[in-house]
Amino acid sequence: MTANGEGARVAVVTGATSGIGLETAKGLAAAGWNLVLACRDPQRAGAVRDELLPARPGLVVSCVALDLASLGSVRACAEGLAGKLSRLDLLVNNAGVFCDTRQRTADGFEATIGVNFLGTMAFTRLLLPTLTATAARTGHARIVFVSSAAAAFGKLRTDERCFTDGPHGFPGYAASKLALVHLTAALAEELTGTGVTVNAVHPGDAATNIWRGDSLLMRLVAPVMRRWLRSPAEAARSVLHAALAPELADVSGVFLGVKGERLESRRYADAAVRTALLTRAAEVIDQAQAVR
Ligand SMILES: NC(=O)c1ccc[n+]([C@@H]2O[C@H](COP(=O)([O-])OP(=O)(O)OC[C@H]3O[C@@H](n4cnc5c(N)ncnc54)[C@H](OP(=O)(O)O)[C@@H]3O)[C@@H](O)[C@H]2O)c1
Repeated sequence: MTANGEGARVAVVTGATSGIGLETAKGLAAAGWNLVLACRDPQRAGAVRDELLPARPGLVVSCVALDLASLGSVRACAEGLAGKLSRLDLLVNNAGVFCDTRQRTADGFEATIGVNFLGTMAFTRLLLPTLTATAARTGHARIVFVSSAAAAFGKLRTDERCFTDGPHGFPGYAASKLALVHLTAALAEELTGTGVTVNAVHPGDAATNIWRGDSLLMRLVAPVMRRWLRSPAEAARSVLHAALAPELADVSGVFLGVKGERLESRRYADAAVRTALLTRAAEVIDQAQAVR
């Protein structure tokens, strides 16, 4: 891993092979950051690296394999990074899926919540020591979760089978994005005083590959929707604001909208759901990783 030259800030971006993640990576490269692209398809990640490298002299881009649908892959990736990176200033948890049909992760979870929330939570937790160590030296590190305004419609189950039997489609997507808002608030509280800030962002609805699917509904609706949506580059601007804006240096635990405004909902502040959800999530992540 060479993305750790002294002086150059390092960002890990998940899901940088397309859409908002790709544009976020381009924006960070242009802003002087070195990058680690954590992607499930190493060949496509390599192609993105080749596309990014001419952006500026001295830019360092590394690629690591990360499949958020496998907690084994999450652990291997995060432990590899923790061993190799001498600094990690920014973690952009961008990767996500919208599953319009029922799918499962390698660990048996419903794939939407499994990838968007459980895999992302496990990855983030494993990188916390690297982020806090960086902040202890430099004074600051950031975590950004790419959530969605769909979170406002999310309903979360917290029973024993909530991550295996939960819904797919829009209800599952909305629940997974609401779960990220709760994770943001909880981590922000936990990391108070460490110099690591944690915020979520809604990038706006953008014409990306996430609107592709096999169901009849997706095939009919997606092409029409794509014509009205923001470009991935416009959406990435909202993510880059959350990641880079100096005025957010001391802001933590908030859910930012497209223009940096704060998104509020009674649902986002439900402390009982938050505690039950995160306790359950920590249990299933520990159990799944223990059997590997
Ligand atoms: N587009 C919108 O309207 C919109 C609105 C609100 C929020 N968002 C959020 O924005 C984020 C980026 O989505 P996008 O719209 O840019 O969609 P996208 O073009 O489909 O990009 C999603 C990225 O996530 C990666 N990914 C999917 N499953 C993964 C897994 N199991 N492990 C690792 N990486 C995985 C994809 O990898 P592959 O290239 O290998 O598939 C891709 O790089 C998502 O979190 C999404 O929920 C999007």
